[in-house]
Amino acid sequence: MTLQFSLGAAAPETVDSACVLVGVYEHGVLTSAAARVDNAAGGLIKRQVESGDISGKTGSSTLLFAPQGITARRVLVVGLGAQKSFDAARFQKIHLEAARALGKLPVADAVSYLSEVEVPGRDSAWRVRTAVLAIDHAAYRYTATFKPRDKQPKPPELASVALAAGDEAQAGLAQALAIAEGVRFARELANLPPNICNPAWIAAQAQAFADAQDDKVSCQVLDHVEMDKLGFGSLLAVARGSVNKPKLVVLQYRGGSADEKPYALVGKGVTFDSGGISLKPGPGMEEMKFDMGGAAGVLGAFIAAVRLGLALNLVCVVPTVENMPDGDAYRPSDVLTSLSGLTIEVLNTDAEGRLILCDALTWTAQTFQPQAMIDAATLTGACVIALGKHASGLMSKHDDLAAELLAAGEHTLDRAWRLPLWDDYQAQLESGFADVANIGGKSAGAITAACFLSRFTDGQRWAHLDIAGTAWDEGRKGLATGRPVTLLTQWLMDRAG
Ligand code: BES
Ligand code: MN
Ligand code: ZN
Repeated sequence: MTLQFSLGAAAPETVDSACVLVGVYEHGVLTSAAARVDNAAGGLIKRQVESGDISGKTGSSTLLFAPQGITARRVLVVGLGAQKSFDAARFQKIHLEAARALGKLPVADAVSYLSEVEVPGRDSAWRVRTAVLAIDHAAYRYTATFKPRDKQPKPPELASVALAAGDEAQAGLAQALAIAEGVRFARELANLPPNICNPAWIAAQAQAFADAQDDKVSCQVLDHVEMDKLGFGSLLAVARGSVNKPKLVVLQYRGGSADEKPYALVGKGVTFDSGGISLKPGPGMEEMKFDMGGAAGVLGAFIAAVRLGLALNLVCVVPTVENMPDGDAYRPSDVLTSLSGLTIEVLNTDAEGRLILCDALTWTAQTFQPQAMIDAATLTGACVIALGKHASGLMSKHDDLAAELLAAGEHTLDRAWRLPLWDDYQAQLESGFADVANIGGKSAGAITAACFLSRFTDGQRWAHLDIAGTAWDEGRKGLATGRPVTLLTQWLMDRAG
């Protein structure tokens, strides 16, 4: 069941709800909503500030149960940190933390006044959008592969949240609901195990989405026979080791006029990356089910764009394969002929993402002549070393396109950071046996991977997002994050004007 959101503006002390959320900064500075609750409840919040029970520290929260003088059953007092340094990232963080705390309480509905907290440089529509996305993110539960729970009575679960905001924020709510659907789709797809979410499964999900839309949306799936006829020699080599046959999934949305070139999103869809013959070490290999995070991300952004009804044309292309060792698997030293005609010497079968993306990028450019082409891929461990899990790596030769994407990431807090794509790095890809090698050696691994892709995007307005560090949360229970759905959707919204 999806969480319901609405906007409302009743006073916090008289609103009828299972839980009201109000914010308190450090050093006992109350927000106006907290002050109203405090007044009505005879100074209850201020007394707890004085006693030290309420610190105001970022992410902390204190539950007041059935306080006298107010209508709501509970008040969750949420710490906002220091007031003078309060910013957009903090606004998002306190919503994530508050929603996590709320999710542990037996409440079905809540009213949040945290969306009223001023953020320098951001308007109320931004605040509502960011709040809804953060709360929906925290409320997401992965349940698909657990034994179905017995129908015994359970404590109530959060089902609806009202946010304090005026009508001017309605647009922010509408945007958030569209983006949240894309994010949830991406997370669920990426969280599914690879014995379920294989290339055929991804194709079926895309097809099912398209079938449920009007005729502005269509889906086409190329199988290995069709790709073979077209000459996808690089992609098909990667796929050869798996019984799960590869697919090229193509979604089209016609929201703009017929003569307008589309924008193109291309996502790496490796449903499991064992490394192939260049087998990965055992520990951590299970995380390579998330190696289709780029595919999930571009599909999620596509869904959000359709839901928003953006006035532009969009194509979403997902090359999807499984990378496995096998008697028929491709091997180090193989020379492949890509769709572009360029030959590739395979020096490591674990550098497979670029090998499926190069053919997908070539095909997308040839088929659609897009206005701009963005790929998203969990491409390199090197990007995780360089940027960690907070920023996606952005590489492009087009400064204007890079600036657009960085701005979209900054605005939505789904942030990217640029790495250079200078020709100086291209020499690392030289091969004695083919036009290009598929790895570039020890240094600058994220950049040489992008350099490899750049050889297949000549003449295109193209940017590459390496989401290896951002697509999922690490750890045994780490879930897919849905990044970069929000960044890409914002970029598309900005393009649609
Ligand atoms: N899917 C991996 C990249 C990856 C690794 C993403 C760890 C997230 C966490 C990719 O296919 C890969 O294996 N890349 C190799 C490239 C190397 C062989 C040049 C890598 O990063 O080690
Ligand atoms: Mn790999
Ligand atoms: Zn991979």
